[in-house]
Amino acid sequence: MSERAVLAYSGGLDTSVAVKWIKEKYGYDVVTFTVDIGNVANLDAIRQKALDVGAVDAVVTDAKQQFVRDFVFPSLKADALYEGEYPLATAIGRPLIAQLLVKVAREKGAVAVAHGCTGKGNDQVRLDVGIGTLGPDLKIIAPAREWGMTREELIRYAEENSIPIPVTKKSPYSIDENLWGRSIETGILEDPWVEPPADVYAWTNDPASAPDTPQYIEVEFEKGTPVALDGVRMSAVQLIEVLHAAAGRHAVGRVDHIENRLVGIKSREIYEAPAATVLLKAHTALQNFVLTKDQLRFKALVATHYADLIYNGLWFSALRRNLAAYVNDTQEYVTGVIRLKLHKGTCTVVGRKSPFSLYDLSLATYDKGDAFNQADSPGFIRLWGLPTRLQARQQRGTIDSE
Ligand code: ARG
Repeated sequence: MSERAVLAYSGGLDTSVAVKWIKEKYGYDVVTFTVDIGNVANLDAIRQKALDVGAVDAVVTDAKQQFVRDFVFPSLKADALYEGEYPLATAIGRPLIAQLLVKVAREKGAVAVAHGCTGKGNDQVRLDVGIGTLGPDLKIIAPAREWGMTREELIRYAEENSIPIPVTKKSPYSIDENLWGRSIETGILEDPWVEPPADVYAWTNDPASAPDTPQYIEVEFEKGTPVALDGVRMSAVQLIEVLHAAAGRHAVGRVDHIENRLVGIKSREIYEAPAATVLLKAHTALQNFVLTKDQLRFKALVATHYADLIYNGLWFSALRRNLAAYVNDTQEYVTGVIRLKLHKGTCTVVGRKSPFSLYDLSLATYDKGDAFNQADSPGFIRLWGLPTRLQARQQRGTIDSE
């Protein structure tokens, strides 16, 4: 019996060719592994296809729940948004895929794992680092990074090896999807001056054709985790699916981003992330309501760092874990309800309530019942401005006075 490799298999042309190519180049029997994290229409069909193109075994699994619990919600609690724009859908899917690839490799007694990433992107880094950390003894094969075939050569290889070529017209874009978002790149999008054509979008309406009537939606959180919509408790996966449909209908969640890749290049990326956009906005709003100014300032620093760690493929690092512990501690009182309005591409927070709110009406009001003692202010201001007044007196040149 030959040694085995476990290949992350999407059912597309590249990974189908890879089944054959790995056997030819490395002599390994290939076991395919396909995971649904909110991106797969028909797992059984993919399983059958893998066997048809020569896999000795084909494993399929639904990991949506695990994805949300262990990857999506932790990054939501951290407010992780890469470069302030990208909700990191593709990026947080990769460590889970790496983890499951290693697990299946163990179960199937494989000596190698393989994936379909090219040598130009971030995904190869995330998978290779994840696999190398969790299964250091496993050999990593990335056929599309190694074989150097053009599209035409790939098709010829497929024809020669009777690998079925998808009959549907190939999309002009490179697309990656999971339940937290959809990433679209290449084709006409490589021209940063060109507005994304309508066919780029699949999850969100165009704002112009979105409903004229706004939709209000209430998202309830417990300790930073969303648990209910409009008062109805539901599973995490279902909650994301319901929000996905509502926000998508109202054209919420489109992102057009010039992004700094880990491998040094800038790339133009389009994202659709309707549910993520709403949840990140709601979470941040609730947090603003229950944490102090100093906690919020510090947490924002951590958020940037946390997003970079995810983006840069360092999910399985001690630092990511350290930061997650900090983030979890900050979520103790992030409990309450945020009311949002979805309308023609906008998502606006219009209401908030929490039993732990630090918003005190008797301190904030300008109306009757004001408990704020205005007579305290002059003394406070004298001390607050003391260093500045002192410096202005002693070092006139430090002050812009003109
Ligand atoms: N640029 C994004 C990232 O690095 C998305 C990558 C999408 N991958 C793809 N094969 N289309 O996370």
